Amino acid sequence: MTEKRSLPRVLVTRKLPAAVEERLGRDYAPILNPDDCLYSADDMIRAAAGCAAVVACHTEKFTADVLARLPDSVKLIANFSVGVDHVDLSAARERGITVTNTPDVLSDATAEIAMLLILGAARRAAEGEALVRTRKWRDWSPTFMVGTQVTGKRLGIIGMGRIGLVVAERGRGFDMEIHYHNRHRLDAEGEKGALYHDSVEGLLPNCDFLSINCPNTPETVGLLNAGLIELLPPQAIVVNTARGTVIDDEALIGALKSGRIRAAGLDVFNNEPDIHPGYRGLANTFLLPHIGSATIETRDAMGFRALDNMDAFFEGREPGDRVA
Ligand code: 8YV
Repeated sequence: MTEKRSLPRVLVTRKLPAAVEERLGRDYAPILNPDDCLYSADDMIRAAAGCAAVVACHTEKFTADVLARLPDSVKLIANFSVGVDHVDLSAARERGITVTNTPDVLSDATAEIAMLLILGAARRAAEGEALVRTRKWRDWSPTFMVGTQVTGKRLGIIGMGRIGLVVAERGRGFDMEIHYHNRHRLDAEGEKGALYHDSVEGLLPNCDFLSINCPNTPETVGLLNAGLIELLPPQAIVVNTARGTVIDDEALIGALKSGRIRAAGLDVFNNEPDIHPGYRGLANTFLLPHIGSATIETRDAMGFRALDNMDAFFEGREPGDRVA
């Protein structure tokens, strides 16, 4: 009789979709989190004792200090996220910990939320919904709840990666003229007629709508500050489905209050979920709780992608989505 190979022990920091946990249980010895409690760094380090891998979300921070204190047994952090700004990648490399992410599979879902924000901010969805819910909707009039049209406007995209490309495509569905800034210019096939700007400063004056789709890096922290907001056309609309860190909250809130910016649609924030309180009281904000990838299809696909990476790692193959 052949002895059953012992399955790698894996810490799964958050409750994952049922189908994903089922596959985890089949192929690994997982420590699950059925109550979905948030681990503190110390608790996570303790729970990882004897584990070969951690399946993590952006809610767990792997700073250099946390990575240094992880048990030596941990060789892989398989993220359930495309963003990896919660992991100090160079510290992980130094410790010999492999890190993977889940690109591609959430691009459509996140672009859907970008379009929802564009439409919601332009058409005053939050204000209108509140009126209906609170019984403050009195009548109809030609000047009631008038917003701005999306169709045919200019859509500027900062970060024309996988998600930015889908946002551009959805924008084309609304006959929008696509402008973008990216670290590298795309080839003509990728651009599909989108107009490239080699700096954010060059892009902003062309944005009736600005969609932020770049990652959180040292170069993008606080990128949309007061000075750059001044470069947007009057009454532009800003939407963000990337990371809150890209926006200087004080500057955006100031511009929303003064009317310099017409509206903002935000799914991501600095310091989630304890966001800058200034956003909450503004009628011209359309706010969502970081749900860019929150569809059944996408969350399953993210989990399976994380497990594909983990399978490759433990079978001695190169994980497809290795970032460190
Ligand atoms: C996820 C995201 O919900 O994948 C990302 O980077 O921002 C979100 O869509 C979250 O990060 C999962 O950990």
